[in-house]
Amino acid sequence: MQKIFKVGVLTSGGDAPGMNAAIRAVVRKGIFNRLRVFGINHGYQGLIHKDIREMQVGSVADIIHRGGTILRTARSEEMRTPEGQRLAAETLLEYEIDALVVIGGDGSFKGAQTLSAQGIKVIGIPGTIDNDIPGTELTIGFDTAVNTVVDVISKIRDTATSHERTFIVEVMGRDCGSIALRAGLASGAESILVPELEQSLDDVVLKLKKGFARGKNHSIIIVSEGVGSGYQIGEEIYKKSGFDTKVTVLGHLQRGGSPSALDAVIASAMGGKAIDLLLAGKSNMMTAYVNQKVVGVPMEVAYGEKKGLDMDLYNLAGELSI
Ligand code: F6P
Repeated sequence: MQKIFKVGVLTSGGDAPGMNAAIRAVVRKGIFNRLRVFGINHGYQGLIHKDIREMQVGSVADIIHRGGTILRTARSEEMRTPEGQRLAAETLLEYEIDALVVIGGDGSFKGAQTLSAQGIKVIGIPGTIDNDIPGTELTIGFDTAVNTVVDVISKIRDTATSHERTFIVEVMGRDCGSIALRAGLASGAESILVPELEQSLDDVVLKLKKGFARGKNHSIIIVSEGVGSGYQIGEEIYKKSGFDTKVTVLGHLQRGGSPSALDAVIASAMGGKAIDLLLAGKSNMMTAYVNQKVVGVPMEVAYGEKKGLDMDLYNLAGELSI
């Protein structure tokens, strides 16, 4: 087995709470195992442009509880080009970095695979609030984002009740409705609109009207961004129902804040697992959370069949919000 001595770590794509905990674990577990660990700033952009520093134990002190990523992140257009991919691999060769740990979403893993094709060992750690990566039950940041949404909805509910209003809350998730579904169920939303399912606004309005008829004085409708604009949907619901309708788009606040304990634990376990996999000579793998354990799975799994919506939870949310 070819020994590894130097490991690089970067964060790429949208940031997610818990990325820092994952960086910390990669650095400390690496150093614990007598590896030298290099932090690459600004994702693949920094790799292409050699924005690299060696990390020490102290470099990752006091970050486990912080949101964002101390390594910064970027969505690198250059890394989508063969020239960018070649330069990225060249930097690793120049610094004699034997292996790279990439913390990010599926776009980031695609970049990692281009490096793997050039003979570099790579391990992916799924970090995205969207929880849209197949092969892992959870991605780093998802639990925190859901908790953030639930917290905000409980505040919205207060004012919704006082004014007897209907609130449309638009949440992130790209084309995946997981944040909407979990947050909707946890906050008792009346309707949850997700991109995975065709849902009729007439049905949503019917439900609203029924609720008001039996004395409900406010409603919360969660719209996952993949369905469309919360403002547009709010307008349509207002036109169809005549109810006093307000819209809140939660946006990037869902990406910030300290990681939940669950995210910090998963992130630490995934960071540690990434080093274990590399020490065992593995490459082109992703760390995954399966049955409450962090394991390694082939990176291709991340591009496998799309993660379906949890229909049991979705149906339950419908049954509980009658
Ligand atoms: O993938 C994470 C995510 O926050 C998505 O939910 C959202 O669609 C997107 O990133 C927003 O990206 P940006 O921060 O580049 O606007």
